[in-house]
Formats: sequence, structure tokens, C-alpha cells
Amino acid sequence: MKYSNYSVVIIGSGIAGLYAALKIEQQTNLQDGILLITKSKLGESNSRYAQGGMVGVLKENAKDSTASHISDTIKAGAGLSEFNTVKFISESSDSVIKDLLKFGVQFDKNENGDYTFTLEAAHSVNRVLHSGGDATGRMIEKALTKDVSENDNIDVYEQTAAVELLVNSNKECKGVVVFNDLTHEYETIYSSAVILATGGVGQLYKYTTNPAVATGDGLALAYNAGAVLQDLEFIQFHPTALAIDGDENRFLISEAVRGEGAKLVDADGIEFMHKYHENRELAPRDIVTRANYNEMIENGINHVYLNATCIDKNKLAERFPNISRICAENGIDISRDFIPVAPAAHYSMGGIKTNIEGETSIKGLYAIGEAASTGLHGGNRLASNSLLECVVCAYEVASYLKDKKLKTPKQIDEDLKAVIDKYSKDLLMEDLDVEALKHELQDIMWRGAGILRSEKTLMNALEEIRELSKKFPRSVKCLSKEEYEFKNMLLVAKLIINSALQRKESRGAHYRLDYLNMDEVSRHSLLTKEKGELCFVK
Ligand code: FAD
Ligand code: SIN
Repeated sequence: MKYSNYSVVIIGSGIAGLYAALKIEQQTNLQDGILLITKSKLGESNSRYAQGGMVGVLKENAKDSTASHISDTIKAGAGLSEFNTVKFISESSDSVIKDLLKFGVQFDKNENGDYTFTLEAAHSVNRVLHSGGDATGRMIEKALTKDVSENDNIDVYEQTAAVELLVNSNKECKGVVVFNDLTHEYETIYSSAVILATGGVGQLYKYTTNPAVATGDGLALAYNAGAVLQDLEFIQFHPTALAIDGDENRFLISEAVRGEGAKLVDADGIEFMHKYHENRELAPRDIVTRANYNEMIENGINHVYLNATCIDKNKLAERFPNISRICAENGIDISRDFIPVAPAAHYSMGGIKTNIEGETSIKGLYAIGEAASTGLHGGNRLASNSLLECVVCAYEVASYLKDKKLKTPKQIDEDLKAVIDKYSKDLLMEDLDVEALKHELQDIMWRGAGILRSEKTLMNALEEIRELSKKFPRSVKCLSKEEYEFKNMLLVAKLIINSALQRKESRGAHYRLDYLNMDEVSRHSLLTKEKGELCFVK
């Protein structure tokens, strides 16, 4: 076992983790330096695949205002968004985005040099900034990754997974144990500030827009450490992922395509969204998802279609170069053909409960980005609010840490030595087919805790997971990164199901077939681990 000390450790290299690293380095003179850990390559993350864009309530957009953005966010959030959080993030958007530009990030402009704001569902005005047409995430990641790689004050461990947080009996985080996927070595890193920027949970589901790294690790790490988690039952399913048979990790067809005028249709080209909502294709995301799903179930088909042929051919090519290319690779000319689309797990509204500065219920442990639950998104995230939340909260955690005297623990508490020791021992373990187990879990979650749930589907899913767990005899130490990920997925699946069982109403993305109504009073669901057991906080 290797040991090291860092003033700040950031886990995850999506937009939240990268920007936090750069801001902390810029603002704070840290004695023991900054370490950024990522379990794959530096740029790999959900962030990289973001298409539509980032909400920017910029002063130069005369048609927009924070009041309008706050109102849209709260409306989409189905009564569960926290007003103060929404207001803060909206009001910070102008200054934080302008700070982001200083790191080489660029957004698309028109021939006059003005930003081109696009429209997405449930936004009342065009306010979404984009980059590279439909490659917003990749463009931002590229700029921030370059800055981090070139910054001598930020150390980076790639292919390294955080496997356990070191939290003592006073609920103080003192560091993290990590596993190097290439050498299979463990390292204990002491630090008085650990920031989880580990992203989402899409890989828990059979069909998802999320890449392989989105396995909910941060939620499992935080839960095991005793942190409070919030609103885990709220999983956002995107209505339009490219539905090619056999393809379960689905390429996204951005909501911005509907923003530019594309329509949802059946195989005969007949539109159907008017049956579901007055705003049709631009209704809140949960409504469009259930509409597509309903059409699929009623007609016994495995996808509906998106008709973008009504958009000018040149505009399609210029505005959506990657969507055009990926569809063409699958034999679909989006200027002439309908695009087969179906819903897929996309985003986790819930996560580790934090305030705007990323503080969790554990001292020294912070969470930002999709892994966190600040209360911005409520029961249903408004499109393109996630990237904004990532950058605002990364900025805020950095500002918060600037004023802290970060003293790296040089010696670890006695009660944590036992935790570290578990990873030093060599255990005899048989190889497992983790890929097959993962597929089983994804199928269970899709059927039991998916777009439509009920007590029956959720209880069945729990029972199936109990059985599946018997095929995975690992309690602490695992043999590979994939095993650690699967261990986390099993745990997070159980937490999502238990939260979904507790919420006996339908609200936003949480739709219960046995409780169709929304309660008059909205409440967050809060859970934690106490004395080794899952416990809901009243
Ligand atoms: P991520 O970008 O997911 O990064 C998480 C990082 O943590 C990764 O580097 C991962 O490898 C690392 N990690 C995880 N676990 C561990 C561990 N145990 N140890 C070490 N490292 C770990 N949102 C918008 O606002 N606008 C959009 O247009 C948009 N489009 C999207 C399109 C797609 C296809 C997808 C999937 C999402 C989209 N979203 C969009 C959502 C948005 O991209 C994400 O919510 C956001 O990028 C999350 O950023 P993050 O930094 O929190 O996490
Ligand atoms: C999209 O481009 O449709 C995704 C936007 C988002 O998830 O915010």
C-alpha cells in the first residue's frame, strides 16, 4: 500500500471536476497540492457527450432574464426545486460562464459575432449556449482537459478508481483509498478536502445515453461513508435516444433538434404529441418521455420516430454535424429519413445532498455536478441546466475552500487503520463474469424501476437483485475496477428502488402506476446509512 498527502483531492474528470481543479489551483495556495483522480482517461465522462448546450442567462440576451429562467426551472422541477438554489445558480450564470471563457472555452456565434442561443423543451426563450454545433460537452472538456494537463500544480491519476472514503467516527473525511486499474495497486491518500465529482448512474439501466463510467460510484462511496443522499428515485429518461436494434448504450438525438422544429411521429408520419401536452414536442422532458413510451406500448413497437425533414438541410448539417454523421453511419439521412428514437436513462436528479458550496453532511467531504443534489432540478431537470450547475458549483466549492485553512492529516485516526488494512490483505477470490451480471442488473432496473413503476415492479426488482447479489460474493475488496463498479451499481440500485418505494405519489420523472396523483405537499426523500442499515431521514 502506497501513502500520499494532498491538500485537496478531486474525484472525477467531467466538467465539474476539471473546472473545480482549475479554480482551486487559481485561487488557493495549497501546501500539499491538488490531486485529480479519474477512473478512465482524463476526458471520459458524461460531460464529454453533452450535446444541446449550457443554459446561459447572459446580459447580452435581451429576450432573457433570470426571473424567466428561475420560473422555467421551477415549473419543470414539479414542485421539488429549491427556490434559493435555483435563484443563486441562475443569477451566477453570467459571471461564471464569462469566467469559463477565460479557460479557452468557446460557444458558437453568428456572423455578427453574437452568441447563438438555442431553444430546448420547457424553456420559454432561446437561452442555451452551444459549441461545435452539437458537440458542446466535447468542446468544453477539450479546453479544460488541456488546461489541467498543462498545469504543473495539478497532479492527475488516470485509470484510478476511488474505492472507499476515510471517514472517522466524528464524521470527518480524512482521505480516500484508490485502486489503480493498470497495476492493481492500492494507495491511501490523506486529505482534509475530498470532492466527489463522479457524475451519474445511467449505466444502471439497460438503455442509456450515458457512457460506461456512469456507474453511480460517488453515491455508493458517500452512502457507505454515512453521508445523506437525496431524491434518488428521480431518474430522468431522455425521450429521444437513437434506437438501433441491439444497441443498448444509445446515442442521443438532442432535444435541440426538436427545439429547431423536428416532430415526433409514428411510422406513417402522423404526429402524436398534441394528445399529451399543449407544448407538444417542447413539453417538459418527463412528459415527452412518457408520451413516446406510451405510443411504443400501445402500438407494440420498440421505437417512435423523429421527423427532422422539415428543417432546412443546410441548417441541419451545420447545427447538428455529429447527429447527422452518426445517423448517416447507421444508414439514416436525417434531411430525408425519419430517425428511430426511444427513451433511455439519461440523468440523476437526486444524489449526495449538498448546499451550493458542495458541502455534504460529512465534514471535509464535498460533492459537485451530477453526483450532487443541490435541489436545483427538483423532480425533473430542465434541459441544459446540468452543465450550468456543474460550473457554478465547481466555482463555489473553490471559493469556499479559498478561505479554509486546509491542513492535510499527516497521521490517520486509529479507527481508520482497520479500513486501510482491508485493502492490504491478499484474498483468494474466484474470477467472475461481471459483464454478464451487469447486464442482468440493467435489465432488472429497466423493467422494475424504469419510466413507469409500481410497488409490484419495485418489489420484484428488489427480490431479483437479492438473488443476483448471491452471484457476486464480494463485500469489500474486489479484483478489478469493473467489480468495484458493479458493487456500487448493486448498492445504488437498491437505494433507488427503496426511495421509489417510499414515494407514494407521481411527481416529475417518478411515475407510479399505483399512485397516479401528486401529493399537495412536496418533500425531499433523504436517506443515510446508520448502524449499517439503510435509514430514511424524516
Ligand atoms: P461526469 O461528466 O459524468 O464526470 C464524472 C467523472 O467521474 C468521470 O470522469 C468518471 O470517470 C469519474 N468517476 C466516476 N466514478 C469514479 C471513481 N470511483 N473513481 C474515479 N473517478 C470516477 N447536460 C446539459 O446541461 N446539457 C446538455 O446538452 C447535456 N447533454 C447530455 C448528453 C448526453 C449524451 C449525456 C449522457 C448527458 C448530457 N447532459 C447534458 C448531462 C450532463 O452532461 C452531465 O450531467 C454533466 O456533464 C455531469 O458532469 P459531472 O462533471 O458532474 O460528471
Ligand atoms: C440534449 O441535448 O437533449 C440533452 C440536453 C440535456 O440533457 O440537458
